[in-house]
Amino acid sequence: MPKTDHPQNSSRFVRACLRQPVDRTPVWFLRQAGRYMPEYMAVRKHHTLLEICRTPEIAAEVTITAAERLGVDAAIIFADLLLPFTPMGLDFEFVAGEGPVVNTPIRTYEQVQALRTDRSEDLIYVSQSIEKVAKHFASPRPPEAGQTDGDQLGIIGFCGAPFTLASYMIEGGSSRNYIEAKKMMYASGATTESRHSERSSEPPYLHSSTEPQSPMETTGSAAWPLLMEKLVTVLTAFAAQQVEAGADVIQVFDSWAGALSVEDYRQFCLAPTKQLVENIRNMGVPAIYFGVDTASLLPTMTETGADVLGLDWRIPLDEGWKSVGTAHAIQGNLDPIALFAPQEVLHARVKTILQQAANRPGHIFNLGHGIVPGTPVENVIQVARWVHELSAR
Ligand code: CP3
Repeated sequence: MPKTDHPQNSSRFVRACLRQPVDRTPVWFLRQAGRYMPEYMAVRKHHTLLEICRTPEIAAEVTITAAERLGVDAAIIFADLLLPFTPMGLDFEFVAGEGPVVNTPIRTYEQVQALRTDRSEDLIYVSQSIEKVAKHFASPRPPEAGQTDGDQLGIIGFCGAPFTLASYMIEGGSSRNYIEAKKMMYASGATTESRHSERSSEPPYLHSSTEPQSPMETTGSAAWPLLMEKLVTVLTAFAAQQVEAGADVIQVFDSWAGALSVEDYRQFCLAPTKQLVENIRNMGVPAIYFGVDTASLLPTMTETGADVLGLDWRIPLDEGWKSVGTAHAIQGNLDPIALFAPQEVLHARVKTILQQAANRPGHIFNLGHGIVPGTPVENVIQVARWVHELSAR
């Protein structure tokens, strides 16, 4: 039976994703296993980031340690957004102080054509990590402060969204202005725009590369839709493996979608993202769709059909929820830097967010973006406790 069909899922996190009633608001933190945590740094001393991701024993241990230390309701599998690049034939590395670097960025149609979509089994180490985490959390947690007897931790698998992954592929790493990515995007708009005015209102994504090309059309214009199509194929297979291995929910990270205007998001990114979300939901698990700086994009992002929308801290939670609509759950939205604030200030911020959510079914407490290095671990633990205490129904 698909997990979403269970009348009462045993995890309060999954129940909240489905907008079912919960005894307390579930909580977890973006980047909860990371460099702010001494246990992670101890492992990191002996292994590179990619070694940790690619060794299921270590990835599972890091995932479990963070979730248990923090007392949260969900464990996000330790992995990285860029892992699917390798089976697609794109080399990348993490350079200290610089972040991810793609050695030969994708700039042409021929390069997009050469990307492979048939080797998702190369990512099997991620599902193996999930299997280990699922096995560890198979039994209900022992009752303790903030937990209810019988409640089970949710396991979150994840992947990138087509736009955010394409931006790393095309820019070759992190970017401020996304010039190259937008150039490829707009090149596809030149033809679709003329086609639009001539004969259709279909989104450009539907004009697949296999369609006959007009003589005016350059192959450059077909690069973006083909890249979107290939990413959806690869990410769907990757998500399916994770669900098969025991992920209860899949989070789709569109971290940099906020760099797009509503119009560009709708024209170039909505259709492939919607397709990915639909594919994930058809696997029988809820989908969480998250981006940063998305206040103006939220209503359009909602059209992807995601069960849960992630909010960053720039928009008050109640306003964000209004913009998303009550047919969706929401996740968020404490400023990660508030974790550096004095306890009274931090407590007040947590309380405000819970008040804005008003105990309505469908709120998952989280940060608006990832925990940053240097964050006091004690404050993170404290926030998880406060969320459970303050939201007890
Ligand atoms: O606990 C967790 O949240 C799970 C682990 C996780 C990592 N990456 C491990 C990691 C998750 C969910 C990600 C997703 C990810 N990766 C995103 C989306 C999340 C977001 O922040 O919006 C993005 C954009 C990436 C790509 C990526 N990975 C970047 C840009 C960087 C460098 C940033 C930096 O802070 O240096 C990484 C590296 C990375 N991935 C780290 C971790 C714990 C930190 C580096 C390290 O340990 O060496």
